[in-house]
Amino acid sequence: MNIIEFRSDNAAGVAPEILASIADANEGSAIAYGHDGVTARLEQRVREVFEHDTARVFPVTSGTAANALALTALCPPWGSVLCHETAHILNSEGGATSLLGGGAVMKGISGNDFRIAADTLRAALGSITWGDPHHSQPSVLSFTQPTDMGTIYPLDEVAELSAIARGSGLKVHLDGARIANALVALGCSPADLTWRSGVDAVSLGATKNGGLSAEAIVVFDEQAADELVYRTKRSGHVTSKMRFQSSQILAYLADELWLRMARNSNDRMVELAAGLAELPVEFINRPDVNMLFVRMPSAAIDRLEQAGLMFYRMSADTIRLVTSWQTTEDHINQALHHVRSALT
Ligand SMILES: Cc1ncc(COP(=O)(O)O)c(C=O)c1O
Repeated sequence: MNIIEFRSDNAAGVAPEILASIADANEGSAIAYGHDGVTARLEQRVREVFEHDTARVFPVTSGTAANALALTALCPPWGSVLCHETAHILNSEGGATSLLGGGAVMKGISGNDFRIAADTLRAALGSITWGDPHHSQPSVLSFTQPTDMGTIYPLDEVAELSAIARGSGLKVHLDGARIANALVALGCSPADLTWRSGVDAVSLGATKNGGLSAEAIVVFDEQAADELVYRTKRSGHVTSKMRFQSSQILAYLADELWLRMARNSNDRMVELAAGLAELPVEFINRPDVNMLFVRMPSAAIDRLEQAGLMFYRMSADTIRLVTSWQTTEDHINQALHHVRSALT
């Protein structure tokens, strides 16, 4: 059976350019714990790419670590992190932020299209008594860009939500596990999507887009960066051979590799969605990037599974399809052929 992979972008392999960069970093020896030349070059590169002279970078090995550490550097133990009710940090990280944050809590708020709405954010900020220790104090707004459901916030919405949050003294975090896909879809610069729109810290994902368990926290807020020096170490995230994570992100950001790979996954999703839109299936989300949730008869899904199409089955009649940097036009044509057959 010919397997066609749509389960997740982290089921894809590692980009050859990234493997080559790891091999380059393997020449000779280097001082440990991030004091090496590769990590220094990475920080310089991040400053160039994000057009920010004092940005700091902390390579880590998972998106959960990036999120939890970034958030706890922005949120006191008595604080709360506001995020969309579908956010990964709330539903899929086992409470990592609360664990590392000394009990900081997360609050899900609603909004259409799986995005936080300005009104619900204002309502959440107005619903607590500020200064009352009975209430966790809202301290951070975290939004996922693109969202966990494959939609994106337009740039003006990012700036509006950040401004509302900052107006009440909150810091702003962006979960960018798939930030490259959002940058390609929006056609904007990393600086515009982040610090110029009021973002203090970013979880910069690479693993879902060709990295080998390499992510980075990019921080624009000086105090949070100073704290992360200690927080990363105390939580076991200052790897001794950090140059091998740093070399990956360095290659990832070189020659727009991250954007080229994300463009492939987004473009393949455009083709997949266009083909599926002609069939009797229902889209749950608007696929702005590389993720599509589709409802179709349960028996058809059973047939797709038997045909070798790999996807997440969210429920009896709903599946998630994710394209990656490795997805080809041929994969899309084969997938559409299988869906057509399964539906007839
Ligand atoms: C939006 C988002 N954030 C964070 C993560 C966490 O990444 P990791 O699985 O590397 O911890 C994921 C992983 O699926 C994700 O989809």
